[in-house]
Amino acid sequence: MCYAAVSSIIISELLIFMNILAIESSCDETSAAVVKNGTEVLSNVIASQAMMHNATGGVVPEVAAREHVNNIIPVIDKALAEANITLAKIDAIAVTYGPGLGVALVIGTSVANTLALIMQKPLIPVKHIYGHVYAPWLDSKKSAQFPILSLSVSGGHNELFLIKDHMEFQVLGETADDAAGEAFDKVARMIGLGYPGGPVVEAAAKKGDPHAFNFPKASFSDGRLDFSFSGLKTAILYHLQKNTSRLTDKRFLADTAASFQRAVIEALSSRVFTALDTYPDIKEVHVTGGVSANSALREHIEQGLKNWNKINGKNISFRTPAKLSYCTDNAAMIGAAAYFEFQKNPTRYETFEFVAPRASFD
Ligand code: KG4
Ligand code: ZN
Repeated sequence: MCYAAVSSIIISELLIFMNILAIESSCDETSAAVVKNGTEVLSNVIASQAMMHNATGGVVPEVAAREHVNNIIPVIDKALAEANITLAKIDAIAVTYGPGLGVALVIGTSVANTLALIMQKPLIPVKHIYGHVYAPWLDSKKSAQFPILSLSVSGGHNELFLIKDHMEFQVLGETADDAAGEAFDKVARMIGLGYPGGPVVEAAAKKGDPHAFNFPKASFSDGRLDFSFSGLKTAILYHLQKNTSRLTDKRFLADTAASFQRAVIEALSSRVFTALDTYPDIKEVHVTGGVSANSALREHIEQGLKNWNKINGKNISFRTPAKLSYCTDNAAMIGAAAYFEFQKNPTRYETFEFVAPRASFD
């Protein structure tokens, strides 16, 4: 349904300078943020359900939905208060509309539709993955140099994008089965470390030897830059079944975590360096998404890029989100992506259209 509620005069006034209220509810974080001009974070409030899902070792959709309902209005109120702004002074509303848990997305999109319609504000739907891609813009004073090679690694998705300009994405690789974050979560569960798996596996890996075990790394013979982690997950399961007598041995578990993490990091970084060899114009490399909170992954790619630059006489720069809270799900990144989308296609928002949640995209 369309409403000619927002006039083009308002739209043209909003070019360049705008405060966006962004809402994110695609999985187990309820988040709202106020972002100025796509980069300046005035507030970024995140209500995480991680503790709640820890008991079940993963996200239970029904529980997640109930928590979003409880949290969404207080989180938006807090985001506006921390940004010292009223809803009336907000220029546009942005919301994640997918992919994600349907029952979770429906809460964020319903609230965003209602606020935008009542307040007569442009409503910008944002794909969750594009939010992650735009996280390195947050708090950044330096403008980005295109083309950018962007590795986005989360619990639900892995993508390698060539970004030619704002909102112009070419997919170079994506996950053929499980995403890297999901592998971290499953391995954490297998070795009894809880949820979410990434931070606890990273902490265990720091005490272990990454070369203790050699786990398989999938590659594609047709030269695709896709990712696959289901074989690695199965290899860890067999490794644990073969070593049942050592499951209480902390050193063995730390070595397993470190060797698993090395396999993931090498699989991810090999795609990055193959892409750099293939696309000579790349000016920046970005690593984003929940798994980009992993310091070993960041260091491995940053160091590898320094060496690659030296060998190839180049000066490609490296960026990750400025804060760990911008790596995992948050609304500020949605506000950043929404700003650049709006600047690119302002007339698209002249008429109000309800945003429908979408669990997945083709
Ligand atoms: O981007 P995100 O918050 O949600 C999705 O869009 O999926 O990513 C969550 C994923 C989880 O699988 C979590 O285990 C992983 O990011 N993660 C990490 C770390 N922190 C979070 N993985 C590895 N190391 C970390 N430090
Ligand atoms: Zn995410």
